[in-house]
Amino acid sequence: MKIITVIGSGLIGRSWAMVFASGGYSVKLYDNQPGQAANAITAIKKQMMELQEVGMLRGQLSATQQLALLSSHDNLQQALQGAFFVQECVFEDLEVKQNVFRDVERLVGEDVILSSSTSCLVPSAVFSLVQNRSRCLVSHPVNPPLYVKLVELVPHPDTVAAIMNRTHSLMNEVGQVPVRLRKEIDGFALNRVQAAIIAESWRLVQDGIISVQDIDLVMSEGLGVRYAFIGPMETMHLNAPEGLGDYMKRYGEGIQRVLRSFGPVTDFFAEDAKSVVSEMCELIPNDERHLSARQERRDRLLMGLAQLKKDS
Ligand SMILES: NC(=O)c1ccc[n+]([C@@H]2O[C@H](COP(=O)([O-])OP(=O)(O)OC[C@H]3O[C@@H](n4cnc5c(N)ncnc54)[C@H](O)[C@@H]3O)[C@@H](O)[C@H]2O)c1
Ligand SMILES: *[C@@H]1O[C@H](CO)[C@@H](O)[C@H](O)[C@H]1NC(C)=O
Ligand SMILES: *[C@@H]1O[C@H](CO)[C@@H](O)[C@H](O)[C@H]1NC(C)=O
Repeated sequence: MKIITVIGSGLIGRSWAMVFASGGYSVKLYDNQPGQAANAITAIKKQMMELQEVGMLRGQLSATQQLALLSSHDNLQQALQGAFFVQECVFEDLEVKQNVFRDVERLVGEDVILSSSTSCLVPSAVFSLVQNRSRCLVSHPVNPPLYVKLVELVPHPDTVAAIMNRTHSLMNEVGQVPVRLRKEIDGFALNRVQAAIIAESWRLVQDGIISVQDIDLVMSEGLGVRYAFIGPMETMHLNAPEGLGDYMKRYGEGIQRVLRSFGPVTDFFAEDAKSVVSEMCELIPNDERHLSARQERRDRLLMGLAQLKKDS
């Protein structure tokens, strides 16, 4: 039996459970709120049936077969029995995560891989109460993991290569797209790139250069269109006759000149930042009804894009 334990049954824990079940793994879902893991499985069942209905269920197994692989647990020891891999998805709170991994280590063998979903905490902090950290790493998913497949694998300084490799293989096997960071760094790769995009977009709006609506179009109708298929490195490589080196010879200085004009870190809390927020809220009011309608639209579009990427 190939058993994976998922700890924490919120948004991300549910998604991981679905991803692993789609790859044929037995998933034991644990939550420290009694009944929460069972509720999660009810929600997963509904989602899997809907996905099957529209032909978007992942993996080779039917929804019924995948659901049979899931079990819910209110007892951590039971939940960990037989597992070779543990994916933690509890609150983004350092102390909570440290304590979870301290407790987990006492209940599993030395060869069990301990993996955290944290978005913002580095592995050396998350695993500081674990004795043997050679089998610990962060596997950072992107929301929603069912349609956005990237997983950043981030090692603790003590993590051995074999554990990175085994996790990389597991992620590939269940249909995610893993990437390796060679060392831990604040923000990992995705959130560092995202921070750069957020900072400059915000600055351009706050400085009155462009509207909120138009900067979003710069991404969704400009950069983002090709970034869904090729990244910034390949984009440059293809945009000069002799590739990347040639591209930098032609455009490198111009890019540096622009970079030098960026100035200090954007102040998201300045007085004139408020107008950025109100401009956004005029486009999409920040009430539950409008936001959830747009969230549904986003997920529908991402589902379509995932399908397109699969077919191409
Ligand atoms: N939501 C996102 O977009 C996103 C994306 C990538 C990574 N993450 C990361 O995934 C993790 C989970 O996020 P989420 O959005 O699913 O949170 P969430 O609040 O939806 O779910 C957290 C769940 O963990 C449970 N929990 C809390 N303490 C626990 C404990 N000690 N033992 C067992 N269960 C416990 C809670 O009852 C809850 O069900 C966080 O570290 C977050 O940073 C989130
Ligand atoms: C730590 O775990 C690894 C397996 O990941 C094992 O090979 C090693 O012996 C363990 N170290 C100690 C000190 O127990
Ligand atoms: C891990 O994978 C890398 C890249 O595929 C490979 O070069 C390396 O030998 C592997 N290491 C171990 C210990 O499996």
